Amino acid sequence: MSVNSISKRYDKMIYNKLGKSGLKVPAISLGLYRNFGEQDDFSTAKEMIKKSFDLGITHFDLANNYGDPAGSAELNFGTILKDELASYRDELLISTKAGYDMWQGPYGEWGSRKHMLSSLEQSLKRLQLDYVDIYYSHRYDPDTPLEETVAALDTAVKQGKALYVGVSNYPLNVTSEAIQLFKKYNTPFVVHQPNYSMFLRDAEYKLFDVLAQGGVGAIVFQPLYQGLLTTKYVQGIPKYSRVAKGVDSISADSVTKERIEKVLELKKIAENREQTVAQLALAWTLRNDVVSSALIGASRVEQIVENVKALDNLNFSTEELKKIDRILS
Ligand SMILES: NC(=O)c1ccc[n+]([C@@H]2O[C@H](COP(=O)([O-])OP(=O)(O)OC[C@H]3O[C@@H](n4cnc5c(N)ncnc54)[C@H](OP(=O)(O)O)[C@@H]3O)[C@@H](O)[C@H]2O)c1
Repeated sequence: MSVNSISKRYDKMIYNKLGKSGLKVPAISLGLYRNFGEQDDFSTAKEMIKKSFDLGITHFDLANNYGDPAGSAELNFGTILKDELASYRDELLISTKAGYDMWQGPYGEWGSRKHMLSSLEQSLKRLQLDYVDIYYSHRYDPDTPLEETVAALDTAVKQGKALYVGVSNYPLNVTSEAIQLFKKYNTPFVVHQPNYSMFLRDAEYKLFDVLAQGGVGAIVFQPLYQGLLTTKYVQGIPKYSRVAKGVDSISADSVTKERIEKVLELKKIAENREQTVAQLALAWTLRNDVVSSALIGASRVEQIVENVKALDNLNFSTEELKKIDRILS
């Protein structure tokens, strides 16, 4: 399957502005956290990226440490980009991040200027790119002055190695402070990437308001709670699933009776909307205007196709929202 050069990829996808910036992101973005590393099937990874792009997913999200081993998702994505999508660079929005443990010694993680700028150099080499579109601080570093991390991101932009910057997993009060600091530097700080789904709603408590007031958008990660917000675990743990692989922060213990009951209740609402549970869960994360994109992961092409169809029904009645709140409470 080659990328469709006279594609209708832009006909159906919805593109939302990130906060008050001019940058538009697809309502569904693809993340390469899992299933794109050296240990994974390269041809499946390639097909997922090409199919995503053909469906209008222009945004691919990476980090220095994605893949197993860390860095291999960037390496694989760089190869796929070069071989299949090189002529589409200006149609693509590629992000990477730094902050989690990446190499040995005192400069291999967190938010120092040294880590942030060295890691970006390494990422660009692995990605075979001159610049990324969004460069993130992956987590707040309480032992580095916030201004140092902010200034490092600003430098990345001034060096032409990033067009925009963002933060991820930053607590509420630090986010407010960061918004002010980025304003001082006039840095194009456009996005916060929080964990947000029907099963993890913390971002609704003030963070979304702070972002809206600051003119910053949200790209929310793990909107399917790593697959638990689908029906795949209703009959037990399938062999091919992330839980079965045991590679992540979810395990068999996460597949609780309570969560499965909630999924079955949500399924009734989804069916009335002619959606699957995954599609309902994705549409639901996009109901708040501050959320510009739901950042999904996938292990197979069919999941991406199913998930993008969430966009066929993004409207919720007040009654539906109340019912969902009752189920989730
Ligand atoms: N900033 C951060 O700290 C941070 C942290 C984590 C993730 N992220 C970003 O968010 C992205 C998404 O993370 P994620 O992959 O953990 O989240 P997710 O989208 O909640 O979960 C994706 C997983 O759910 C399953 N799935 C997806 N669609 C499905 C469908 N239609 N039916 C059944 N199962 C389906 C697949 O798992 P199976 O393997 O079971 O098929 C897939 O790998 C990452 O790639 C990364 O870019 C960011």
